[in-house]
Amino acid sequence: MSDTVIVNEVGLRDGLQNQPVTVDTDTKARLARLLVDAGVRYLEPVSFVSPKAIPQMADAAALTPRLPADEGLHYTALVPNLKGYQLARDAGYRTVALVLSTTDTFNQRNLNMSLEQAAASCESIIAAAREDGVATRTYISGAFACPYDGPVPVSLPQQLTGRMFAAGGDEVAIADTIGAGNPKQMKDIMTPLIREYGADKFFVHLHDTRGLAAAMAWEAADLGVRRFDASVGGLGGCPFAPGATGNMATEDLVYLLESCGLKTGIDIQGLREVVTLAAEATQRPLGGRILEWMASQEKRGKTPCLW
Ligand code: COA
Ligand code: ZN
Repeated sequence: MSDTVIVNEVGLRDGLQNQPVTVDTDTKARLARLLVDAGVRYLEPVSFVSPKAIPQMADAAALTPRLPADEGLHYTALVPNLKGYQLARDAGYRTVALVLSTTDTFNQRNLNMSLEQAAASCESIIAAAREDGVATRTYISGAFACPYDGPVPVSLPQQLTGRMFAAGGDEVAIADTIGAGNPKQMKDIMTPLIREYGADKFFVHLHDTRGLAAAMAWEAADLGVRRFDASVGGLGGCPFAPGATGNMATEDLVYLLESCGLKTGIDIQGLREVVTLAAEATQRPLGGRILEWMASQEKRGKTPCLW
């Protein structure tokens, strides 16, 4: 099992999409630069969605050419439908993130589609992407619980995952969109999936609403998952998932994984600068637990010793 972990930074998309204060394109480009300088190599900076539904993402096409173009960077754009896929492809994205929620209600609120329509739409996007040589990662959103209909059986995300792979999807992300899952559920969902498809096919996407994101991330890592989403400073929340707080903070995930001997390539000190700018830009306090601890050490005149 590899000790290298991919941490995919989704703060600019999942993190900003729900913020009441508009963050301008220039600031988003600066945040992306700082993230890359801190060692981040995988980023989801935009979604190509209706600007009426998500005004914060209206500058997706304008931001794209302003993102760092260093070698070895991997960008994804989230797309809710075929139109979004075409826009992302035309903007130059080589990987797109699709969304498939586990219930009719959640798909309806998020995409204006039933579960069956959303699954069929993902299948059409996957087919188009395969023709174009674009890779797909399908997010099974609300994999642990639906914000409207409550808990979902573990068989449901498994079945939807199977359907996406059968359609030719490259990767699946198991997403606890509202932070309602627990480590046992993680194990129950992931064990058979990893056995059938291999751990390298999966991302795990966690929100820390009830404080279990770190425990769930570690459970997934222990099962062999080496791909995680996170959001710098814990920025985030889904506009169509009431009550959901931000993603697991990138700095806390990095601390968790690195302290257990896994390698992320990301520098927590470097992330501090990103958090400062993100907090300023969104006008809200941000920052994972590890940053709070580092600041408290410094207040006492000590240099925080992380490792
Ligand atoms: N990007 C930009 N505009 C889009 C679009 C896209 N991907 N898909 C549709 N539109 C536009 C249409 O062109 C149309 O524009 P018009 O009113 O100027 O003619 C309008 O949106 C309505 O199109 P329609 O296909 O009827 O969409 P809808 O009203 O059923 O809305 C979505 C469906 C998916 C476009 C919308 O719900 C959405 O963007 N949701 C975002 C979901 C999201 O990002 N959730 C958080 C992350 S999971
Ligand atoms: Zn999310």
